[in-house]
Amino acid sequence: MIKFDHIKVVYGDFVAIPDFNLDVHEGEFFTFLGPSGCGKSTALRTLAGFITPSSGTVAIDGKNVTHAHPSKRGIGMVFQNYALFPSMNVRDNIEFGLKMAKLPKGEISERATRAARQVSLTDEQLGKQISELSGGQQQRVAIARALVMEPSILLLDEPLSNLDARLRKQLRIQLKDIQSEVGITTVYVTHDQEEALSMSDRIAVLDEGRIEQVGTPRELYEESATEFVCTFLGQVNGLSEAQIAELNNQGAHLSPSHTHYIRPERLTIQPAEAQSSAGSALRLPATVVSESYLGDHSVLEVNALGAPLRVNVSGPIPQNIAGREVTLLLEDSSINSFDADGRRVAK
Ligand SMILES: Nc1ncnc2c1ncn2[C@@H]1O[C@H](COP(=O)(O)OP(=O)(O)O)[C@@H](O)[C@H]1O
Ligand SMILES: [Mg+2]
Repeated sequence: MIKFDHIKVVYGDFVAIPDFNLDVHEGEFFTFLGPSGCGKSTALRTLAGFITPSSGTVAIDGKNVTHAHPSKRGIGMVFQNYALFPSMNVRDNIEFGLKMAKLPKGEISERATRAARQVSLTDEQLGKQISELSGGQQQRVAIARALVMEPSILLLDEPLSNLDARLRKQLRIQLKDIQSEVGITTVYVTHDQEEALSMSDRIAVLDEGRIEQVGTPRELYEESATEFVCTFLGQVNGLSEAQIAELNNQGAHLSPSHTHYIRPERLTIQPAEAQSSAGSALRLPATVVSESYLGDHSVLEVNALGAPLRVNVSGPIPQNIAGREVTLLLEDSSINSFDADGRRVAK
């Protein structure tokens, strides 16, 4: 559906994207995820046609569009600030592109109404001024304005980042629902890993203009191909030298020249005095330093052999646990190991 083939983008003598290769499939919700400045917008704008790459090709539906005008690519784009016209009402905003294309009046109105329905805007809201709408409603107008042009691809560049945390969570779900209902191939840009994990069919994690890994949210989180992906997605504990030595004493094979990580939810905790040897689990002695109670789970900060570890505990834990001696249990298979180049080491 979308193919980036050896795309290189430069700004003056700065190489923003050295060599970008990617396929996005029909109907997919695909996300570019990475820290600010890693090249997400650059890649998206190259797809949209606002940036011409210095080499390589972009193809849409098998057609080379590398030098095609943005308006000829069959894409709709939603920007972070929505770029709506504040002086026009909602319907006029949605109809704008159709009017520019000089379509017949009846068709304009029909298509605008349909696009508004797709994003659950009511007839009453269609008559309102943009300034009378909430941030979330404005975002839906921006999406309707893109969809009304019947693009084959929808591009969204950090569309939720101007909104408060609560609204972002709600809109995440709404946006995903709109996308799966309309079935439109979507490329989404965000620096928010939770957003990416919860919405995407597949994700490309970017760092300094390079793709670190492409995969489903589960693949990226559970089988991070690189140290960058492992540490960028969610919470993770780096194991200290002393912790590694202790685990190796118990039969683990953790190379001292590699780095080793374990996610907080992969550590389980039991009282130090409990002797139950739970199958093949490795053990680390630890002292609880602090507890954050978060209702549905708690986060414990523990000290294990002189270095801190974070442990996520779901379900109830004893009150006043801080200061207690505990044993951490972990499975060898839960440890993510990376070599000196940051590449995953196979178990
Ligand atoms: N117009 C520009 N001129 C020069 N450098 C730019 C321009 N746009 C982006 N950059 C640089 O290119 C890199 C990637 O930027 P961008 O694609 O906007 O990253 P992201 O969207 O991931 O935050 C950054 O280092 C940024 O400073
Ligand atoms: Mg950006």
